[in-house]
Amino acid sequence: MSRGLVIREWERADKPSLTAHANNIRVWNNLRDYFPSPYTPEDGEKFIEMVLQKPRPVTDFAISVEGKAVGGIGLILQTDVQRISAEVGFWLGEDYWNKGIMTAALKELVEYSFTRLPLVKLYATVFDFNTGSQKVLTKAGFEKEAVLKRAAMKNDKIIDLHYYGLIKPGYL
Ligand SMILES: CC(C)(COP(=O)(O)OP(=O)(O)OC[C@H]1O[C@@H](n2cnc3c(N)ncnc32)[C@H](O)[C@@H]1OP(=O)(O)O)[C@@H](O)C(=O)NCCC(=O)NCCS
Repeated sequence: MSRGLVIREWERADKPSLTAHANNIRVWNNLRDYFPSPYTPEDGEKFIEMVLQKPRPVTDFAISVEGKAVGGIGLILQTDVQRISAEVGFWLGEDYWNKGIMTAALKELVEYSFTRLPLVKLYATVFDFNTGSQKVLTKAGFEKEAVLKRAAMKNDKIIDLHYYGLIKPGYL
């Protein structure tokens, strides 16, 4: 893979590509239930319009391969005493799995988060069976800090959540 930028801001023109790649049960099986399934063109429309209306700083990025949006990565900024933390979430169209794309995208998001935003801590909670995502987090420098036992239900199964964290250099 080239070393060029992988993440960029969402654009209205991304709607068809977003919908095509997001409409996949194998993607959804690893995500929270609020991610639509099936993922319709209306869902793509709603998502991009919502993102474009959000106040700055930008927290939602498209993952771009040859200009096409084939996945998404973003931050959920926390509030109150946790305002120095943000939760990271990401997904990629199945055609592009296992090519190192998400690792590159996550590294870019980490760089953006710690240089452009007043954040000290990034974290993600991953389903226990999602080995690929746990590998991506590890390759981007995150450490498994905890296992939240029996903390979630997905597809009618109760599962553990693996909590991965990354602390801004200098705050260890
Ligand atoms: C998980 C996901 C983001 C990975 O993206 P990706 O671009 O394929 O990730 P990368 O290629 O950068 O790295 C994946 C690593 O996991 C490994 N991997 C993938 N599936 C695996 C599995 N079932 N078991 C063990 N390792 C696995 C790959 O071999 C690779 O490791 P390597 O670099 O040592 O070979 C992507 O598969 C995806 O979007 N899945 C659906 C949604 C999702 O899981 N989102 C994350 C929710 S926390």
